[in-house]
Amino acid sequence: MNTTNATDLIAASAYSKSAKGQFDLNIPGDSHPPLLQVTQLVRHYPLPRTNLFQPPQQVQALQGVDFTVAAGHSLGIVGESGSGKSTLARLVMALDTPTSGTVHLLGRNLHRLPAGELRHARRDFQMVFQDPYGSLDPHHKVERIVTEPLQAQRTASRDEQREQAAQVLAQVGLRSADLEKYPHEFSGGQRQRIAIARALITRPRLIVADEPVSALDVSVQAQVLNLMLDLQQEFGITYLLISHDLAVVNHLCDEVLVLYQGRIVERGTPQQLFHHAQHPYTRALISAVPRIEPGRARARRALMAAGVARTMV
Ligand SMILES: Nc1ncnc2c1ncn2[C@@H]1O[C@H](COP(=O)(O)OP(=O)(O)OP(=O)(O)O)[C@@H](O)[C@H]1O
Ligand SMILES: [Mg+2]
Repeated sequence: MNTTNATDLIAASAYSKSAKGQFDLNIPGDSHPPLLQVTQLVRHYPLPRTNLFQPPQQVQALQGVDFTVAAGHSLGIVGESGSGKSTLARLVMALDTPTSGTVHLLGRNLHRLPAGELRHARRDFQMVFQDPYGSLDPHHKVERIVTEPLQAQRTASRDEQREQAAQVLAQVGLRSADLEKYPHEFSGGQRQRIAIARALITRPRLIVADEPVSALDVSVQAQVLNLMLDLQQEFGITYLLISHDLAVVNHLCDEVLVLYQGRIVERGTPQQLFHHAQHPYTRALISAVPRIEPGRARARRALMAAGVARTMV
């Protein structure tokens, strides 16, 4: 298979970059605490015991992860399947409890908050999931789906909820008439817009997006990523973007962490990683970005028509 030169791919990329775009997530001398601070995060999962006379085995999904993200910036997490990306997302979202280590959002230790305070704090951090088909309940209308985080907060009246839902739908490029529809009436890209609207409705400071575009067509991926960029510039949202695709992360992120077997093995701006990747896994990731070769398919079709090539590759 032909592989990149990923540098060319990035240079040729039509992707727009965040206006902030600089690698300054840890600004020296900056007196503001980071929006998100993850310290020595460890998560081990016990495996079912197979032998009564031996201690139970464990999966070491995360083995001491540290990073900070300043408000309004985007941090990308890349890594192969099983490297711990979704585990990290669940811990940052306080959907799972760490074996050890801490997650501070806006200075609060999320895993130490009493249940009532955590419920209230959830306004500030929301999640967008990978699967726009599975993450929206097919039995509920869009209005109910999008207002779900407000229902959990129990603060807004039904009319206020509907008004806010119409507002966020407009912000993601849908119409208020769509509130009455069911998820099956939308395309994959539109469903992911609904999922983003649901995340936006509490006006969160942080959105954790776990592979938000990997289930979408490439053309639709760029639309959804551009929407996320626009929303960031309008509302100053901070993103933690998880992906196995460096091109997706390059579209949106100021800094990237490479996770490998539950540890951070490399970090830098997307450009730094593309130009100076140190870790063999990062280099493998870069060489896996497919090369775009304009004209190659056309040449191959011509060969096929002439009977020279038997199969299309
Ligand atoms: N609830 C769980 N119980 C046991 N093991 C788990 C659990 N959740 C995750 N793991 C294990 O932890 C490791 C990391 O899983 P995780 O889902 O975080 O990977 P990932 O990087 O998100 O992978 P993918 O790219 O395939 O989504 C894997 O070995 C997985 O099998
Ligand atoms: Mg995952």
